[in-house]
Amino acid sequence: RRLLLAALAALLVGALVTTVLLVLERREAAPGRTGGEPGLGDPYFPRAGNSGYDVDRYTIDLDLGAGDGSLTGTTTFVARATQDLAWFWFDLALDVRAVQVDGAAAAVSRDGATDVRVQPVRPVPVGAEFSVRVEYAGTPAAVEVDGASPVHQRGAEWSVFGEPEASAWWFPADDHPSDPALVDVSVRVPAGVEAVSVGRLASRDTGDEADFDTWHWVAGQPMATYLAFVSVGPYRLEEGVQDGRSTVYAVSEQLTGRQQRAALDRLRTSGATVRVLETMFGPYPFTELGGVVPSAPLEFGALETQTRPVYDARAITDADFAPELLAHELAHQWFGDQVTLRAWDDVVNSEGWASWVAWAVVERTGGPSAAAAFERTYAAARSDRRIWSVDLTDPGRDHLFDAVYTRGPLALQALRTLIGDEAFFGLARDWTSRPATRSFEEWQVQAQAATAVDLGPYFAAWYQAPTAPEPSPALGF
Ligand code: ARG
Ligand code: ZN
Repeated sequence: RRLLLAALAALLVGALVTTVLLVLERREAAPGRTGGEPGLGDPYFPRAGNSGYDVDRYTIDLDLGAGDGSLTGTTTFVARATQDLAWFWFDLALDVRAVQVDGAAAAVSRDGATDVRVQPVRPVPVGAEFSVRVEYAGTPAAVEVDGASPVHQRGAEWSVFGEPEASAWWFPADDHPSDPALVDVSVRVPAGVEAVSVGRLASRDTGDEADFDTWHWVAGQPMATYLAFVSVGPYRLEEGVQDGRSTVYAVSEQLTGRQQRAALDRLRTSGATVRVLETMFGPYPFTELGGVVPSAPLEFGALETQTRPVYDARAITDADFAPELLAHELAHQWFGDQVTLRAWDDVVNSEGWASWVAWAVVERTGGPSAAAAFERTYAAARSDRRIWSVDLTDPGRDHLFDAVYTRGPLALQALRTLIGDEAFFGLARDWTSRPATRSFEEWQVQAQAATAVDLGPYFAAWYQAPTAPEPSPALGF
């Protein structure tokens, strides 16, 4: 009897719990109880970014005063809800200590390495602007996702930058190129090291603390999250104003004196390179300009961080290679930064153009023509199956950054030949004339609208076909 009663009681409790869970689940699914998703469904990085809101600005406050690569941070981001949000997510790989939504403490939980779920006391209605204040802490270098970390360390130098994802290692974000936002970065560091970031240096403050400095950087225009960075270390800074733009070049003092001088000399040519780019694409998009050369090696050469590209020290001091590298990263300020990718499978909009522009800058500054670069590159690439096996309209997440550097500029030079300089440069100017987020499909539509030539065969051959195109007037060579 007793056993029977106990079993009955257990069954009852079980049924009750199930019912409660079902009811709760229904309430979440019912209208008015909707929330965001922990990803935007990017074809290669489905969990990157978050649905349900667009960020307007990030105010990032970091304390790196411990000097051991650990940080505590407070970031407030202001966003607009694009749907009713009973809950929403942001991307952060560090430990969350507290979250406030519009000043009120919110419930927080984590799912996986970089996704944090927030449940505000009151749902945010669609269309509303809301602010999210996140207190967090951690040692970014200790956090690896898929065996990788975007933290670069060498001696007293510590930096975080990377593509396609790096912001989650230092600030809570909607980490996807389709949601650019203003970025304001304050960094407290031990006296004796500098903190470098994007935008202009608004202040450098010792305050009451003799042993610490707070560096405050402010970007004048929105940027995709992967285009922001921070680097702390012994840096030599050169500040100025060029063509009305606030300009800061930073070179690591951990490099040899000779390297430092060569790097700085090269960085100083950024203004002249921008002027060449402006003759092709119109005004430089941002109110600040610069460059940074850390001492830690960058396996990928450079990154087009907005207003201040990060350059590998070896690459930027290599007299043969540097001019094209600089042109490439500065070209990205138009292609990739001002006009961001809709999703990561649109990477050709960024890397294809930056690579072609490097040829064009050489052409415009008295070097070999882009047509000559095309001939040379085509001859070398023609029988390289690795290049043609990558479909540039869908390269796959493991081939974002390889074939595009060859196939991309070849395709653009072919387009130029096919439609002529006037249509080609007009198209490029239209494309980059204002901030936008755009897919490769949009590029195809816009390019086709700029010419009477049928671009169907051209796009198929240069972007998708599995073997090198053979010379043909329809293909632009
Ligand atoms: N966008 C960089 C450039 O200017 C290259 C980044 C490569 N990233 C990578 N994870 N391999 O070309
Ligand atoms: Zn690039």
